[in-house]
Amino acid sequence: MDPNGFKDFAGEMANFITNYLENIRERRVLPIVEPGYMKPLLPTEAPQSPENWEDVMTDIERVIMPGITHWQSPKFHAYFPTAQSYPAIVADMLSGAIACIGFTWIASPACTELEVIMLDWLGKMLDLPSAFLSSSGGKGGGVIQGTASEATLVALLGAKAKMINRVKEEHPEWTANEIVGKLVAYASCQAHSSVERAGILGGVQFRLLDVDQKYKLRGDTLADAIREDREKGLIPFYVVATLGTTCSCAFDNLEEIGAVSNREQVWLHVDAAYAGSAFICPEFRYLMKGVERADSFNFNPHKWMLINFDCSAMWLKDPSHVVNAFNVDPLYLKHDAHGSLPDYRHWQIPLGRRFRALKLWFVLRLYGVQNLQKYIRSHVAQAHEFEALVLEDPRFEVVAEVVVGLVCFRLKGSNDVNEALLKRINGAGNIHLVPSKISDVYFLRFAVCSRFSESSDIQSSWKEIKLRAEEVLAEQPNSK
Ligand SMILES: Cc1ncc(COP(=O)(O)O)c(C=O)c1O
Repeated sequence: MDPNGFKDFAGEMANFITNYLENIRERRVLPIVEPGYMKPLLPTEAPQSPENWEDVMTDIERVIMPGITHWQSPKFHAYFPTAQSYPAIVADMLSGAIACIGFTWIASPACTELEVIMLDWLGKMLDLPSAFLSSSGGKGGGVIQGTASEATLVALLGAKAKMINRVKEEHPEWTANEIVGKLVAYASCQAHSSVERAGILGGVQFRLLDVDQKYKLRGDTLADAIREDREKGLIPFYVVATLGTTCSCAFDNLEEIGAVSNREQVWLHVDAAYAGSAFICPEFRYLMKGVERADSFNFNPHKWMLINFDCSAMWLKDPSHVVNAFNVDPLYLKHDAHGSLPDYRHWQIPLGRRFRALKLWFVLRLYGVQNLQKYIRSHVAQAHEFEALVLEDPRFEVVAEVVVGLVCFRLKGSNDVNEALLKRINGAGNIHLVPSKISDVYFLRFAVCSRFSESSDIQSSWKEIKLRAEEVLAEQPNSK
């Protein structure tokens, strides 16, 4: 492709993207294709000679769009949001053009330096304690991981290395394997599956602890578990507190958990993957009270802060534990400026890393903090609007406190009737929701996800839910 071809292709793609996004409401949010739908639409081999970009453009609607679940549609209420905005898309274009791999400072100084500065900007937007910021002049600093799952694992590995070193000082006769066999980590039973998975990947035991009636992990529960485990000769070393659980968006009591973690000298990691974006608004910061007690903190701007996947922001008060845990230093990766700024390869699992800080820079500059706050507040207001609609209808109930953008609700009655309702909603394909279950109670999760979502979308999604509920209820044996 020559430069003029690129300009035409990119221009046409910009047209396509704006048409797609600005008219996304008109598309069926869930695709109706069957598994394997694509095979007959494509040749079995790559073309030997070049095709026209115009033909590629045509195939987007023919081949790709029929198999897309439209995550950016205001009719999409499943999971949690995944963010997207025009400035972030343009930043990804530039990142694709520069195409550097920023594993060390010298591998592309701007890639590292913008990331350091952006993580400070972002940390200040959340009012994180200065100990997490590189501008504080201490050890702390931030890094962009690909996902919250990676952040949880990286923190766990740092905590593991730190505890092994500490125990070895007390018991030089113990081998690392003996120590690892005794290590135990903790999180709430409501923590995301990636937390338990971090334990499996890190080769340590993970205890998932009971929650209170609001689905929060409390300090006493953690303290009891730690005491029991110490009595068994185990070594508690890592706690994950979740701010905004995936099932119901519950917030663990960070203040209590922080006090116990600090007293017991275990590493405290905060997983605020979805809800962390809300902390750019001062009125939600009460939910992260106690954050100064954490060793590491993570949230995903790629979920709810208008930055396209992947951009998972992580801060560490003392990155040296992580850096030392992963430090393998071949000659070809050494450089003269070593030590003055982070070599981010030591802060993450892979070696390679894209220039992701550009997305943060573009979005923060082109929206400004005030518009990002407005965006968060509008989603929270829409969630409360939906909550009010549910509460007005005596056939339904809300099953968890609505704090930010997620409403957990169900038809009063059996799990079966709620399963039937969800099946019917998703079968109709006009809106998309996913379920959850806590203590054997099945419910539906309604997340406000789209950048385009407005009050009228909430009203029409609720209309659709009521229609499907009426159909399901009419089929119940005692409905007549
Ligand atoms: C609370 C929580 N933690 C972790 C994750 C995993 O996020 P990621 O896909 O960035 O690993 C999620 C995903 O929704 C989540 O809700």
